[in-house]
Order: sequence, then structure tokens, then C-alpha cells
Amino acid sequence: MSHAHTPEPLRAAASAPLRGRVRVPGDKSISHRSLMLGTLAVGETIVTGLLESGDVLGTAAAMRALGARVERDADGAWHIQGVGVGGLLEPTAPLDFGNAGTGVRLCLGMVGTHPIAVTAIGDASLSRRPMGRVLGPLREMGTQVIARDGDRLPLSVRGATRPLPIEYRLPVPSAQVKSAILLAALNTPGTTTVIEPIATRDHTERMLEGFGVDLKITIDDDGARRISITGPVELTPQRIAVPADPSSAAFPLVAGLLVPGSEVTVEDVLLNPTRTGLLDTLREMGADLTITNERLSGGERVGDVTVRHSRLKGITVPAARAPSMIDEYPVLAVAAAFAEGETVMEGLEELRVKESDRLAAVAAGLAANGVVHEAGPDWLRVRGRTGAIGGGAVATHLDHRIAMSFLVMGLASDSPVAVDDTAMIATSFPSFLTLMSGLGATLTRDEAGLSA
Ligand code: S3P
Repeated sequence: MSHAHTPEPLRAAASAPLRGRVRVPGDKSISHRSLMLGTLAVGETIVTGLLESGDVLGTAAAMRALGARVERDADGAWHIQGVGVGGLLEPTAPLDFGNAGTGVRLCLGMVGTHPIAVTAIGDASLSRRPMGRVLGPLREMGTQVIARDGDRLPLSVRGATRPLPIEYRLPVPSAQVKSAILLAALNTPGTTTVIEPIATRDHTERMLEGFGVDLKITIDDDGARRISITGPVELTPQRIAVPADPSSAAFPLVAGLLVPGSEVTVEDVLLNPTRTGLLDTLREMGADLTITNERLSGGERVGDVTVRHSRLKGITVPAARAPSMIDEYPVLAVAAAFAEGETVMEGLEELRVKESDRLAAVAAGLAANGVVHEAGPDWLRVRGRTGAIGGGAVATHLDHRIAMSFLVMGLASDSPVAVDDTAMIATSFPSFLTLMSGLGATLTRDEAGLSA
């Protein structure tokens, strides 16, 4: 997101059946990593299907500032001429990561073990988010940090001249923290180990293996994953085809389940088991959801996901599932509002530190639209179908997933749902409005929507 932007409110209203086959943009996590690993390889990495969103274009700009050549060709493929591990250059200006937590945290890991000085800035949302979770282990590896109280942006780091390997047990289940340490390990002599008691998305590990890095992954007696890299290592450039983002697919899929008469297929969706928690949950809620054309693409399982309108029922979603659907709780809460009975979601503490405090933003959005619910520090309980749904105005707090989730709510509501801003949807899903309108969604740009 730009630092000062004009809000773009939008209103969603009850829609005719949604129908069609669509492809949502490339996976955000894999897109960021493709640009970063391409920069750390020597030679040309070619990426197709890259998510061309605000967040990822911010990472592309950061990689250029660190010395890589990053260009899009006429066919939409991205070419990255990497500088190699150890070869990052000192940028001449601050790196602006906009709204992107993944962009800044992984990049801090990359530069933390290169002897260069880097200043990182971001928008109001990113400047509120905790960076100490990556700066802590990086400090142990020798990175110097100048940050204001609470380790938030803007901040500057000077990478270690002689980085130290560490063994680090993740105190929070975060793929971003794990990945920052693994990227820092690439230029660190000796063996760096990350221990993750609760498995999180494993794209960094899979992609590093694809780039030729010899990772050692074992499981401890207590079930924790132990991931080790012995550095310094060299990365071999790759060709990467980015599959469709399951976190973006979630919006047309939930909309298809909620709007009567709908049938929607989303093609080529990434089905990595560390990302499919929402699909499992929707099935348990009684969703008519089928996966066809399942295959392997670039080492990842992908498939076409079809939903038909379904009468959902409330369930308890186990806390252990949270990492595999962490970005999908806002839209699940919307599905729960239309389900018969109560849906209980537990283990949600990480939602408090996303692009917004998502637990608070979801609860406020539910309240504004007449949905009976209760929220605790790390849980949410939603009672579905207790009365008319909709008619509210939702504050999005610079959070793309809050905006998209409540627009989905409006498509199946008794009266329209207005969101105060949609500009930030471009950080992850720039084609959202066109794609949803193409399926038949009633979305109108109407200032009056704010007082719907
Ligand atoms: C991401 C990890 C998750 C997720 C984010 C993308 C990644 O964040 O919420 O959207 O690409 O590694 P955490 O690592 O903070 O859980």
C-alpha cells in the first residue's frame, strides 16, 4: 500500500448464482520466495505465474536494490539475474515493503548475514507489526539492529561480517520466522538449525531443495521438525511455475458455497498440506467440495477445486489446524455466520498480529452485520443463522483479507454489506473485483455504501 491513499469503499449485495471456472493469481508465499531465492542464486531464474501484486512487486523492487536484475518479459515471465549468496549489494535508499510482512521479514533474514546496511520501511499496518520475532534470532547470529522501541518499522540493520550459526526453537508457529533464519543460514559458516514444534508452511524448505541446497530435516522425539543448513551454500538458478494461491481461492470458493444455486471451480490451486486447512474445515462443515485433476507441478500438489452451494453446519475447528489455514479465519468466520449452529475456532493468537488485529476486525465486522458471536483472547465462537445478516459497514484497517471476507458476506446477506476501503486488496489479489464480478457477484462502487 502507498503510505497515503484515497480509500475506495465498496458494497456487496445478494447475488444471483455464481457460476464459472476461474484461476486466481499465483501464491503469495511462493512468489516472494521465488524472487528472493532467484536473487541468491548465481545466474538466471525464470518465474511464471508470479503474483503481480503490491506486496510482491515491493519485494521485486527490494531485490533490485540489493543488486539483482529483475525483469518481466512480454509473455509475463519474470527473469531474475541473481547475485549469489554473499553477493548482495548495499541499497542506496530505504527498502519500502508496503503492507508485506512476508517481504520484510524474509528480506531481513537475507540481509542479516551480509555485511551491508539496510533500512526497512512500510505502511501504517506493517509499521505496527512485531519484527522482534525475526530480529531476536538474527541478533544471535550477529546482525546489528537499530529500531525504535518494540522492534517495529522503520528500522535499520547492519548484517553480520562473521555470522554465527544458531540452534533456534520457534516460540511462535511462524513460517516467516523459520524462513528468515533459513535464509540467514545460507551465508553463515557452520550448521544453523531451526526447530519448529508446530509445522508451518514449508515452501522455503521445498524451494531451497529445488535450488540445490542440502537441507537436513528430521523429526524429534516430541514430534518437532528440526531443519538444518550447513553454510555457506550456493544456489543453482531454477525455473519456477507458481501455482494459484489457496488463500485467494478461499474467497470465490466460500462465496460459491454461500450463494444459493452457485457452482464455482478454481483451477490449479496449490494443495500443499500445510495450506489446505480451510478445505478440510469446509468439508467437515458439510460443503459440497470436490478436487479434480490433481497432479504435481514443480514439486507441489495442485488441483482444480469445485464447490456447489451447500447448507453448512457449525463445527469446532481444532487449534492444531490453525497454521494450515491461518490467513483463512476471516472468511471462515463469514462461512460460519451462514452455517446452522455454532462454529468454534481456537488457537487464534497469531491473528492479533496480522495486517490488522484480525480477531478484533472480524468480531467488529460480525457485530456490524448482526451476527451473534463471542471473541476471547485467542478464540472466536460464531452462531450461524440466528437472524437477518448484513446491513453493516465494515472497517478494514488496511487489511485485504478483512475487505474480501466481508464482501463475500454481502453476496449472501439479507441486506448489503459495505467495506470502507478496497484499495489494499491489490496487495494480494489485484483481480479480485473483476474475477468475482465475472462469476456474477453484485459489487458496487458507491459512496453511499458506507452508510448502508
Ligand atoms: C507467510 C506466513 C504466515 C502467513 C503469511 C504468509 C509466509 O505468516 O500469515 O500471510 O509466506 O511465510 P506467519 O509466518 O507470521 O504465520
